[in-house]
Amino acid sequence: MGSGLYQVDFTKADRPRTWKYSARYYIDIVKQNGFPAGEDELPLYGHFRDDMMWSTATASYQIEGAWRADGKGLSIWDTFAHTPLRVSNDDTGDVACDSYHKPDEDVRMLQNLGVGFYRFSISWSRVLPDGTTAHVNEPGLRYYEYLVDALLSSNSTLPQITLFHWDLPQALQDVGGWENDTIVERFTQYADLMFSRLGHKVKHWITINEPYIFTNIGHGYGAAAPGISFRPGTLPYIVGHNLLKAHAEAWHLYNSTYRPSQKGIISITLNSDWRAFRGLVINTVLSQFQLGWFAHPIFVGDYSELMKTTIRNRSLELVCGRVWAGLGCGSVWVWVGLGVAVCGCGRGLAEVDVLLCSRGTGTVVDRAWLDSGSGWLKVTPFGFRRILKFIKENYGNPPIIVTENGVSQRQMDLNDTLRQHYYTEYINQALKAYLLDGVDIRGYTAWSLMDNLEWATGFAEQFGLYFVNRSDPKLTRTPKVSVQTFSTIIRCNGFPDPKSGHECLKPQPEGTSPASVHF
Ligand code: NOJ
Repeated sequence: MGSGLYQVDFTKADRPRTWKYSARYYIDIVKQNGFPAGEDELPLYGHFRDDMMWSTATASYQIEGAWRADGKGLSIWDTFAHTPLRVSNDDTGDVACDSYHKPDEDVRMLQNLGVGFYRFSISWSRVLPDGTTAHVNEPGLRYYEYLVDALLSSNSTLPQITLFHWDLPQALQDVGGWENDTIVERFTQYADLMFSRLGHKVKHWITINEPYIFTNIGHGYGAAAPGISFRPGTLPYIVGHNLLKAHAEAWHLYNSTYRPSQKGIISITLNSDWRAFRGLVINTVLSQFQLGWFAHPIFVGDYSELMKTTIRNRSLELVCGRVWAGLGCGSVWVWVGLGVAVCGCGRGLAEVDVLLCSRGTGTVVDRAWLDSGSGWLKVTPFGFRRILKFIKENYGNPPIIVTENGVSQRQMDLNDTLRQHYYTEYINQALKAYLLDGVDIRGYTAWSLMDNLEWATGFAEQFGLYFVNRSDPKLTRTPKVSVQTFSTIIRCNGFPDPKSGHECLKPQPEGTSPASVHF
């Protein structure tokens, strides 16, 4: 292969020339005199709605530690992480960030950041050691009561509680976990307890975090707890179905019994990728097998026709030997909690997976996309705006709270330029979705408040706004520079033109909690 922009055929006497694609590419550069920023890259100046809910998130197993403290029962993540070779470096959540013993420190970090909300999850087995309401572990419950009070008294950071962020009580797994449909009642009883004990102070509830990930990684690939991989063609669908029913039961319970007096809101967090460059058709298939798997039953009342027929046909072809289980499920949403930790991502060329088998499409990753500390996560801000618009157009313009968005790094980096870039670009795309596309965005949540246990990859992938020093027994937390980036966006409630020199853009003296000076 020669290095020319044109290929020359040396076997022919007249040496014919044929242009290569690189020639076209170069012609464009010459024509445009460089690389002018496209609409996607140009910053938009403006602000979000006045009551925008700025938040940051964590999850119980990833930060709490204290895995056997004060009567806590074991969860499937305790078991999984204590099984050799399941988690990188044999990391466990035994201590994690020790947040169980550091609620005040965590609250101070939130204050310093200036968020109005904090999304955290309850460890089901800390409150109900065997998963049932037969025995309520009061000391475990007290930790959450303390945290809620500390949040409310500190400048009023409002709690957003996730009831299930993947750490199922082991005792429930022992009787079949999410495969056994009695789990629906167990979950509803657990939700009932939490609404009754915390609901007079907590007004934002999320039933289940990212069922797609929990279902597939935990029950299809087996790379997360409970680590089951021997029935990838059926189990994820059964588990997904019970998760949907559990969400619906808890939602209705809250709606009829608690909402009238407690006046809160409740929803579910669904994750979604945006797949670019392969045309609308493929994106639709992928979205219906990911976001739509759970969103369609909730918004429309049943699984989508596309998903049902694709799975049925491929099962009949015996491509996957899959049992098709399409069941209806009616529950209405008030808002969608959208956890977008990744946009425009794919799992690479080696995608021979259970889903690929049933949905019949694969994905590739553009090598031009910026990498992160996680193999699956590429920095593609444009995808964020696209997926937000997709939700507006496909699910009747629901109010959206982004319940996660963030990026990982693998090395300790207090001046985390990648994360500063990531938050600036992604939030600016959310602003475009809000102002230009009319998407009803009510809130944005950064993942994560601090470096924590990134599931089966252990502590190696760090998503935190705060660095947690794991070599220090006190597990000290230090703000990374991205804390300033995110605080400034919160303080301004968006992006004023830098030329305006607006007050909100001015750096805040260290240690002060940033006053809100929205422009
Ligand atoms: C989504 C999950 O909810 C969270 O637990 C995880 O750490 C982040 N994505 C990053 O992978």
